[in-house]
Amino acid sequence: MDGLMTEAMIRADSLSKRYGAVEALKEASFVVNRGEIVGFLGPNGAGKTTTMKILTGYISPTSGRAEVAGHDVETDSVEARRAIGYLPEHTPLYTEMLVSEYLEYVAEMRGYKGAEAKKRIKKVVEETDLGAKLGAEIRALSKGYRQRVGLAQALVHEPPILILDEPLSGLDPNQAAGVRDLIRALGRERTVILSTHNLAEVQVTCQRVLIIAGGRLVADDTPEGLTASRGRPRLLVTMKREPSFDASAFEARLRALSAVENVRAIGLDDPGEIAFELTSASGADARAEVFHAAVESRGVLLGLERRGGDLEDVFRSLTTEASKERAS
Ligand SMILES: Nc1ncnc2c1ncn2[C@@H]1O[C@H](COP(=O)(O)OP(=O)(O)OP(=O)(O)O)[C@@H](O)[C@H]1O
Ligand SMILES: [Mg+2]
Repeated sequence: MDGLMTEAMIRADSLSKRYGAVEALKEASFVVNRGEIVGFLGPNGAGKTTTMKILTGYISPTSGRAEVAGHDVETDSVEARRAIGYLPEHTPLYTEMLVSEYLEYVAEMRGYKGAEAKKRIKKVVEETDLGAKLGAEIRALSKGYRQRVGLAQALVHEPPILILDEPLSGLDPNQAAGVRDLIRALGRERTVILSTHNLAEVQVTCQRVLIIAGGRLVADDTPEGLTASRGRPRLLVTMKREPSFDASAFEARLRALSAVENVRAIGLDDPGEIAFELTSASGADARAEVFHAAVESRGVLLGLERRGGDLEDVFRSLTTEASKERAS
């Protein structure tokens, strides 16, 4: 097949899921193409796990359909599952087993025996760098290593698609960096969708991001595209703190400026300085107005720095818009 051709490996078509009175997922449609690492981002209860359970065949959608590697997850579930490696949100690891025993068990469950099973286990142990831990009990492993065991489990049958539900949650920054590198490496040859709350994570790991809030998909774009189109540029204003300078009067003056929409005082480590973060309506440039306001307040302006909008702004504005819509 032509390597440059985009090929849909996951296709969700108007998926909805209702648990009793709870509408956990509302007509979500998206596509993940071969070779992509896509971040599935949303607040608690947004519907991430629900979507992943539908894609992996653990639950059925109330309506809509999904395809994985060309197989309908409901009518062709065996083939669909064969194409997927799944790291669930709460990995049901057998904690009293040794890592080696657990991987042998997983290989056996997948139908591999003898030399074939050994070969598969050897490969995933290399891929997840678990060689030094084969003789350890799972319960004695750090969370980072447990996540590696969970990933190894997902890779035994060499699936072209990985579905990872919060693979980095609960890991300290060092472990998270290790697992993140591992996911990036695994993503070179596979299609990956991973869920997370962590925006920084998405920016470094994913080529595309799907944002879900209240069961609805509210964005589908590259991280750069999202911040360019929806992020609010900010202005960081740093003033010298001195007895003659009235910080609260200055803050009120900033608030009154025509180009300024919102002002937030920021605590700084340096007791000699005080800073304010400004957002401006429709990206208007407030710098000149801020300069004059500082002069009129007899304040010493130490810094005036423009910062681009970041993914956190986008996430917060999109997900709070969705919750307002739900409340109304
Ligand atoms: N088995 C269930 N029965 C009833 N309600 C459920 C069930 N599973 C999930 N829900 C509800 O469906 C909604 C979506 O849940 P889901 O677990 O998909 O969210 P999530 O995005 O994975 O959240 P988190 O970030 O906390 O993992 C929530 O309101 C949740 O309470
Ligand atoms: Mg979840």
